[in-house]
Amino acid sequence: MALIIDGKKVSSAVKEDVKKSVEELKKQGVNPCLAVIIVGNNPASRTYVNNKKKACEETGIISKEIALDEGTSTEQLLEIIEKLNLDRDVNGILCQLPVPGHIDESKVISAISPDKDVDAFHAVNVGKLLQGVQSFQPCTPAGIIKMLDYYNIGIEGKNCVIIGRSNIVGKPMSMLLLQKNGTVTIAHSKTKNLKEITKTADILVAAVGRANFVTADMVKDGAVVIDVGINRNEDGKLCGDVLFDEVEKKASYITPVPGGVGPMTVSMLLENTVTAAKIQNNLK
Ligand code: GUN
Repeated sequence: MALIIDGKKVSSAVKEDVKKSVEELKKQGVNPCLAVIIVGNNPASRTYVNNKKKACEETGIISKEIALDEGTSTEQLLEIIEKLNLDRDVNGILCQLPVPGHIDESKVISAISPDKDVDAFHAVNVGKLLQGVQSFQPCTPAGIIKMLDYYNIGIEGKNCVIIGRSNIVGKPMSMLLLQKNGTVTIAHSKTKNLKEITKTADILVAAVGRANFVTADMVKDGAVVIDVGINRNEDGKLCGDVLFDEVEKKASYITPVPGGVGPMTVSMLLENTVTAAKIQNNLK
């Protein structure tokens, strides 16, 4: 039976540290501020943005929401981002993804100043991540590393298999695991013999976006299983990419959904906002 990795607990610990850092910054006259842009009415995005704003409030970070109509054009959005880039009171900027289909997402990502890019999506920050010299941690992957650290789960020399190659999770996750000296494999929808590969994993990260995709026969005995998925099953119930009840019996550690990776993503965003405020004010 696996031990449950409690993302809420680890996330609270990170938030406590963020809160202390924010208090220190305020004593030095710096009020960390995160601008969050949301375009349209995607209900999942609304929930994520609300969670981010609430976490800012809990830690003393100022959050500034910019809610835009579904019909906002790429040019209008870029103009707003440019104003935020120039606003000295704003330390971090994020645009919740996905944006509506008519907006050019890559232009939006490129428009956010790399110094304020607390999602670490800009090409400059992705490049730094590749070089291992990043200032901002990609939030979801960094949250996963933080959870592994918290539970003293070593990465060095371990076989790490990631299912999913997205820019937000799969690819940056591979870089962070590599930085920690893991042996990394990325599997994806075109991978052949997926089960043979996932069964070699000491650490298995599922970031597929398909409910209950990872079954017990895909998991090695004693593996650490990290579930990044946030899906709804046929009954509308929130569930991950991992068939929890089955895999829990085989794994040594497992993250639940909800209450696993999700809360960590938000905490790492707060950490990045503090980092941005420090760098912009030449503070350590
Ligand atoms: N959509 C899903 N995950 C994320 C994230 O980490 N950041 C942003 N901006 N949008 C997302």
